[in-house]
Amino acid sequence: MTTWATTTLALYGVGGAALAASLLKLRRRFDLSQAKHASLAGHARLARRLAAFVPFYDYDETRFFCSDNAPAEITARRRAGFDRLSALYKTRFAATIRCTAEVANSISDLQFTDAYRVPFQYSRYLRTHLPAAAFMQSSDGVTVTDLDGNRFYDLSGSYGVNVFGYDFYKEAIERGVLHVRELGPVLGAYHPVVAENVKLLKEISGLAEVSFHMSGTEAVMQAVRLARYHTRRSHLVRFCGAYHGWWGDVQPGIGNPLPAHETYTLREMSEDSLHVLRTRRDIACVLVNPLQALHPNASAPSDAALLDSGRHAHFDKEAYADWLQRLRTVCNEHDIVLIFDEVFVGFRLAPGGAQDYFGVRADLVTYGKTLGGGLPIGVVCGRSELMKRFRDDRPADICFARGTFNSHPYVMAAMNEFLRHLQTPLGQALYRDLDRIWNERARRLNARLGEASLPVEIANMSSIWTVCYTQPSRYNWMLQYYLRAEGLALSWVGTGRIIFSLNYTDAEFDAVADRFVAAARAMQQDGWWWSNPALTNKSIKRAVLKEMIAHRLFSARDRRKH
Ligand SMILES: Cc1ncc(COP(=O)(O)O)c(C=O)c1O
Repeated sequence: MTTWATTTLALYGVGGAALAASLLKLRRRFDLSQAKHASLAGHARLARRLAAFVPFYDYDETRFFCSDNAPAEITARRRAGFDRLSALYKTRFAATIRCTAEVANSISDLQFTDAYRVPFQYSRYLRTHLPAAAFMQSSDGVTVTDLDGNRFYDLSGSYGVNVFGYDFYKEAIERGVLHVRELGPVLGAYHPVVAENVKLLKEISGLAEVSFHMSGTEAVMQAVRLARYHTRRSHLVRFCGAYHGWWGDVQPGIGNPLPAHETYTLREMSEDSLHVLRTRRDIACVLVNPLQALHPNASAPSDAALLDSGRHAHFDKEAYADWLQRLRTVCNEHDIVLIFDEVFVGFRLAPGGAQDYFGVRADLVTYGKTLGGGLPIGVVCGRSELMKRFRDDRPADICFARGTFNSHPYVMAAMNEFLRHLQTPLGQALYRDLDRIWNERARRLNARLGEASLPVEIANMSSIWTVCYTQPSRYNWMLQYYLRAEGLALSWVGTGRIIFSLNYTDAEFDAVADRFVAAARAMQQDGWWWSNPALTNKSIKRAVLKEMIAHRLFSARDRRKH
């Protein structure tokens, strides 16, 4: 063969290989896009870009009451109801509101949560007339009391921390402080209580090693870092809508000023996502937040997103357990680290956490919230070979993780109280028939709401509830204000997330149910759920989109004029 012919053949070969590689790359990209959820939450980059285009505008007093074009008689009823509620807030919660107003300009978190309780178009008017009351004086049983002496049933669950009831955590902290008093806040060295915590956590998680951190966010950061270190792969997979704390890599969309380049957001409970896991070589780990079983692929349901009645939730334990099992198998086959982020659901669903509840084991598990016995905590439990932070054969190649306050004696002691209580007959009794009890309570409340023809329905995953709305409306977010007036305390995300502590008795729950129905009834009587065949979730979305485009165009024109 001539040199010319050999060179030509070699060039063809290189060209062919390059073409094959490009086609394969294209194929992988296509597979990735197939595995994305159709919603904006499934398209983090696009969501961030679109968010930058949403203009601010809000409704004046007139529009506030008739943004759904309700007739005059209805808007008059709404206005009268609103004025009554506003007067009640300003007298009943006077001291609490005053105290909140005094610090509001100095606490950025408070400004944020206050602005995002409801869709932004209504927020300013609402804040003026139904101001936030962000302080509480005391807690007792399943209630909390504000600065004016008003007692509320607590439905906030303190972001999920409160599993056993506030009195338990108060005692855990007090007993814990006594336990470690001699050592005090000495850091670096461990108090002996740490040894028992490690032993108990290993038993609970079924995993060989433990590391302590200061928050759930940090525990997740460490779990992902370890997975990347040991697999030598770059990417983490999280599922659409799942919250894993506020670290940038697990929050690739709105809320994070930077794009997360090494994160794939895939559709949960989807064969296409399993296909991506099977075919890509850059995936270090898959992060699962089992809370998503209540609303797969949807973001945490906050009332600020209640533009219409599109919130949907339904918990199917068997289907989710089956999904986790399939995920487990694929991760095993492709050496991908499976991480269960149990920071929220950990000790709420079962004493052994989500691993026990769904019957699927993970490689790494993160815990937090309630595990600290009322104090700040994050924990990673994992298989030894994944938890190791250095390599025996490459001493300079380490996976660094520290934290000044990790293993703080006071936190460790309160955690010890929590873990010990979990083992006691009293602690175990709280979990007996747990799902049956909470499902039955949800069923009873739903029956009452149905009998009263109220367009509200509860969906629940054990003691974690979300309120859904059964008829198109632009005003569902008003319910949180009626609930407060009835003495029910929610967190700032409103009716999207109701969290009960497990110590609610039937009588206490019935009292909550009475107030819930009364609140919804008052809201209905005040005309907020006026409906009209032309008012659909689709028509609402379209109307809001039109408003946004109009404001965007007007503000661009105004900018040009000046
Ligand atoms: C599943 C999950 N992971 C991580 C976190 C972050 O925990 P923290 O707020 O303690 O940082 C949360 C907080 O809500 C969570 O629900």
